[in-house]
Amino acid sequence: MTKPLYDAHYQEQHYFGNPYHGLVAFFEAYEPKGHVLDLGCGQGRDSLSLGRLRYTVTGVDVSTVGLDQMNQAARDEQLNVTGKLGDVYTYPVAAEYDIVLLDSMLHFYKKDVENETKFVQRIASELKNSGVLAIFMMQGEKRETYLKRVLDEMEFEWEVLADRYTDYPEFNTRYHMYIVKKDS
Ligand SMILES: C[S@@+](CC[C@H](N)C(=O)[O-])C[C@H]1O[C@@H](n2cnc3c(N)ncnc32)[C@H](O)[C@@H]1O
Repeated sequence: MTKPLYDAHYQEQHYFGNPYHGLVAFFEAYEPKGHVLDLGCGQGRDSLSLGRLRYTVTGVDVSTVGLDQMNQAARDEQLNVTGKLGDVYTYPVAAEYDIVLLDSMLHFYKKDVENETKFVQRIASELKNSGVLAIFMMQGEKRETYLKRVLDEMEFEWEVLADRYTDYPEFNTRYHMYIVKKDS
């Protein structure tokens, strides 16, 4: 499994700041409030936020520092949010999951492109019919086009639920949110 490189970063509480406004607004409005699999949940900024919106959330990460913080906050607030130690690249997308969230897990830099492409393809394949794949990725025309091509070239149809940008003021940037529903 990948070394827990983020353990050092996560000594700082809320290292990645708040969840994006666009993420919260989308999932606040979305129904039904099902079971989310947050792959690479980190300290749980998204998982906890979704838990507060009454989703059930399973977060997976390699950083026990991040997971411990997230699980403690979930207990304190009595949320239906559970962080588990695991490797996102092999963690199965079981039928119990209605939504898979990937936030800042894809960049498609040259050295990662093969691995990340296989990662997206596996998740998309394992995702159940009518399941939702929500991808938040740093704005970039090339990587956005590439991601769409990877999904479009699969044998499934995708209903696009969101294809827009959301500000990320903590890091002075914008994120692309691409949220699609699988329609075999
Ligand atoms: C850029 S951070 C994003 C965290 C979170 N999604 C967020 O946006 O706040 C990437 C996260 O993925 C985790 N990660 C990276 N590779 C992993 C792997 N193979 N298995 C599990 N977690 C991994 C890291 O520990 C880190 O918490």
